Amino acid sequence: MNDMTIKGGHGNGGGGGRKKPIHPGAGRRNALLHPKGRVLTPEELATVKGLIGEGPYERPLLIEYLHKIQDAEGCLPAGLLQGLAELMRVPMAEVYEVATFYAHFDVVPDDAERPPAVTVRVCDSLSCMMAGAEQLIEALQSKDAPNVRILRAPCVGSCHTAPVAHVGHHHVDHATPTKVMELATGGHTHPEVPAYQTLEQYVSEGGYEVLKACLSGKHTVEDVIATLSDGGLRGLGGAGFPTGRKWTLVRAEKGPRLMAVNGDEGEPGTFKDRHYLETRPHQFLEGMLIAAWAVEAEEVFIYMRDEYQAVLEILRAELPKLQAANLAPHTKINLRRGAGAYICGEESAMIESIEGKRGLPRHRPPYVAQVGIFNRPTLVNNVETLYWIPQIIEKGAGWFENQGTNGAKGFRSYSVSGHVANPGVILAPAGSTANDLVRLCGGMKEGHTFKGYLPGGASGGILPVSMADIPLDFGQLEKHGCFVGSHAVVILSDKDDMKAVALNLMKFFEDESCGQCTPCRNGTEKAVQLMSRPSWDKELLDDLAQVMRDASICGLGQAASNPLTSVIKFFPDDIVSGSPAAPERD
Ligand SMILES: Cc1cc2nc3c(=O)[nH]c(=O)nc-3n(C[C@H](O)[C@H](O)[C@H](O)COP(=O)(O)O)c2cc1C
Ligand code: SF4
Ligand code: FES
Repeated sequence: MNDMTIKGGHGNGGGGGRKKPIHPGAGRRNALLHPKGRVLTPEELATVKGLIGEGPYERPLLIEYLHKIQDAEGCLPAGLLQGLAELMRVPMAEVYEVATFYAHFDVVPDDAERPPAVTVRVCDSLSCMMAGAEQLIEALQSKDAPNVRILRAPCVGSCHTAPVAHVGHHHVDHATPTKVMELATGGHTHPEVPAYQTLEQYVSEGGYEVLKACLSGKHTVEDVIATLSDGGLRGLGGAGFPTGRKWTLVRAEKGPRLMAVNGDEGEPGTFKDRHYLETRPHQFLEGMLIAAWAVEAEEVFIYMRDEYQAVLEILRAELPKLQAANLAPHTKINLRRGAGAYICGEESAMIESIEGKRGLPRHRPPYVAQVGIFNRPTLVNNVETLYWIPQIIEKGAGWFENQGTNGAKGFRSYSVSGHVANPGVILAPAGSTANDLVRLCGGMKEGHTFKGYLPGGASGGILPVSMADIPLDFGQLEKHGCFVGSHAVVILSDKDDMKAVALNLMKFFEDESCGQCTPCRNGTEKAVQLMSRPSWDKELLDDLAQVMRDASICGLGQAASNPLTSVIKFFPDDIVSGSPAAPERD
């Protein structure tokens, strides 16, 4: 018996003082006469169905469906989002929160204008800024082209050809206002696929023989893992975790197991994965299939960043060939497309994104090796880590191990950009120094004197030229508050203002913070404000940096202050001299 009573009022007889119990659930019958919120039209529903096809619709594919709508419509109109929610039978709030998380989705409310037909994204991350991205943006914004919109974007993985722009999906190296506008107004928005090594070419040079030897039982998993461990292969996505040990840990978890390839490569300054994917994609794919065999992964998810449209085209062309050639009988390969979010390179955020959700990093433990995609034990490896695997197994652990220098093991693909004469991917011994890399890049650009460098992309801190002879390898830079990460080395010169450099990097982290935790969300924002001032409050900034380092959930917030603390520590003269604040992002 419900002992709640109401007095008088509508629907209750209103009889003076008469008390009537409310039956639990009675309110359900009081249906609204008008539906609440926006009304979905049959046309909208039909449009969405036409774009994403007939069901059944899978919840993890939400981001793929959003891409289909965005590709066709140039945006995500509210009505189509509602149609998608209806078809997928998921709450509109869920569709909306995912759609608005990713930078490449344009959610357009009913009463708002759709974006212009062509979107130009100009990279304003560090190497591009140093090459004149601000002037490029200004010049493009001053052009009278109503069908073209100019947006700022974070690093698109081509820092050696800075400044860089994307006209739709068309990648433009060494971008100039004229070049970009010609492409944009001429409708050249499609990716250009470079000449790459196809399956047939790779096989003709002996490719996939190592995989076949694994699948046929000629190699055992234990032997393969031992070879990788002896060779010293470490994760090249940034963390440097020993690859053989990671495979062993995943194998120790009860199956069924899964695998994810991290192709997000969003760390400003990094472009090595893109280089291998656009030149020798099958060497990477063979490594991936060997890894899937080793951990008995039922399915592999290749997570490729949306900026790498040419790579996506290559994979769409080459993956079906693997099936046809029976090279992947042991696993199912899925290709997933990111949507413009740096944080999705962090492995647990990537897994969330693969599951069709916002890229919010997970709390650990449990680690993704234990509880990963769909809560299954998951192996996550970076593209370049996998790229080396067939060669290490074929040529032996000693071959790889002996490539290193200064006590390090193996090759490293250093992405070198900034003020060197010939920037690019430099394949050099692990443990090479910044001085070595400058030399291998043909010295400094004319008119520039080597002043400092980023040893590991935006997160890895900044070191002065006096420390350019430190081996750039895992574990070597931490005592200086830096790390080598993905081996993205940006060379700075006497023409660069270190405060402006650090501010550019902090703005990147502010934009890319997922917003889940306060030290990172508020810390990056506060740091940008403080660093934009003509004079820096060192004590306050140090304090803020400490909190961000100690209390952030994931590596983004923990490392975001590295450039800031490096400038305070190693470039005191630059702080005194003051510098103009870099312009705000849109
Ligand atoms: C903020 C953040 C961004 C990251 N971005 C990438 C990335 O773009 N690509 C990548 O392979 N690893 C990235 N990582 C590292 C991954 O979390 C993970 O360690 C790596 O993919 C594992 O593969 P590996 O062992 O082969 O390096 C990132 C880590 C953090 C904290
Ligand atoms: S540290 Fe930043 S990116 Fe990482 S979970 Fe917290 S808010 Fe998100
Ligand atoms: S492409 Fe612009 S900084 Fe990397």
